[in-house]
Amino acid sequence: MIDADRRTAWAPGRVNLIGDHTDYAGGLVLPMAIDLGTTFTLRPGGTVLTVTSGQRQPLKLDVPVRKGLAAHLAGLEPAWGRYVAAMAVELGATTGGRGELTTTLPVGAGLSSSSSLEVATALALGYVGQPLELARLAQRAERAASGVQGGIMDQLVIAAGRSGHGLLIDCATERYRHVPIPPEVEVWVAHSGVSRRLSSSGYSERRDATERAARLIGPLPTASAEAIESLEDPVLRRRARHVRSECDRVEVFAAALAAGDSAAAGAAMVASHNSLRDDFDVSVPALDTLVESLCERPDVFGARLTGAGFGGCVVALARAGSDLGDAAARVWRVRPSDGARLIDAP
Ligand code: GLA
Repeated sequence: MIDADRRTAWAPGRVNLIGDHTDYAGGLVLPMAIDLGTTFTLRPGGTVLTVTSGQRQPLKLDVPVRKGLAAHLAGLEPAWGRYVAAMAVELGATTGGRGELTTTLPVGAGLSSSSSLEVATALALGYVGQPLELARLAQRAERAASGVQGGIMDQLVIAAGRSGHGLLIDCATERYRHVPIPPEVEVWVAHSGVSRRLSSSGYSERRDATERAARLIGPLPTASAEAIESLEDPVLRRRARHVRSECDRVEVFAAALAAGDSAAAGAAMVASHNSLRDDFDVSVPALDTLVESLCERPDVFGARLTGAGFGGCVVALARAGSDLGDAAARVWRVRPSDGARLIDAP
């Protein structure tokens, strides 16, 4: 029912099917928006924004946000409030209100709970615009709140996702197209049990390495094998090789999905995991074990770590009608879903 005083926004989380550590290098990614996400209900009004999330400490923010808060986001409590505050800063919000947050996303699992929160916040605070603009806004908020220079993948698929589809994004141009997920397959996510924070992981170090390599040989997604082999530093060489080969695998995966070749799509996922493990060094033993055990199942076409790595989740492509519930302790079937939207508005 529409409530005249209330605005409710929903934003999904995401799982990345293939293409990791390529977005910030201007490469290809193929994530999908999922049916788990964040709901933000706001009764706008007044000059204080008060947001509650369960029974925990609420966020209280004077609006308009005072100049200088942007520089102190790292010290703001509760910690999730940093993402809300960063978005209020980006939007230049002038009206407060009483808000309530709920989420069905596991936090720290690598399913983009923070990007989901930023995008839901933008819509609840009244932002109206195209998905790419919304994604760029959320990316700036994410960077400000976390201090990590992430790419555009998470925010863009959360803003632009479509039910039944993945999103093939060329991060160099920020152009994207929706890719149907065939009915013969299902997507499952399993948690490794290792939780991770991007800010304390090796994410920034990996990003720096790809930038250093690109300064020496040009954009990595299109670098030639000879150029990559010419890199003297063996670590930079491996990082560059991952980005280049991962972009190729995204194309192979998209073509395999379109051709209904689930086995080839699954093989590309396994090759992606191996490259993230061996060339990019972002896997951990718990992720490797989970990928191996999932791939032993006859109903699984392929599996790989998803997102930044260093813990978090594995994504598996399985035959429709599978039940991977017994394959891991925490496992969810996720459905390709629409992007963020207002559920009701005054
Ligand atoms: C995190 C970042 C993304 C992307 C992935 C790795 O999820 O937020 O921008 O870089 O890691 O692919």
